[in-house]
Amino acid sequence: MKLEKIQKPDYLKVRHAMIAGARTIEDVKVMTDLDTVEYENDIKAILASICGCKGTSLEQVVTLATEGKTVEEIKEITGTATACGRCIHLLEAVVAAKK
Ligand code: FES
Repeated sequence: MKLEKIQKPDYLKVRHAMIAGARTIEDVKVMTDLDTVEYENDIKAILASICGCKGTSLEQVVTLATEGKTVEEIKEITGTATACGRCIHLLEAVVAAKK
């Protein structure tokens, strides 16, 4: 994922909002103090990704979660959360919410 403008502290705000359920630019706007117009492209890229290490998309994980796959099964299938591990809480949140 190539980001254009957003810096790490703001990147982390988006990731934390995602763990809390943010899935759209509007969600991020409500749940953070970020300028969602200035960072729109970066926020969209962040929202689309679960795991930067393995390149796993949100769409992939939602599809597997709605098929009934568990966190452990999704880790095995996609490699998500098997490298640096920073995405595990987001993976768990997406699987729990199935969205
Ligand atoms: S971001 Fe998922 S293992 Fe590193």
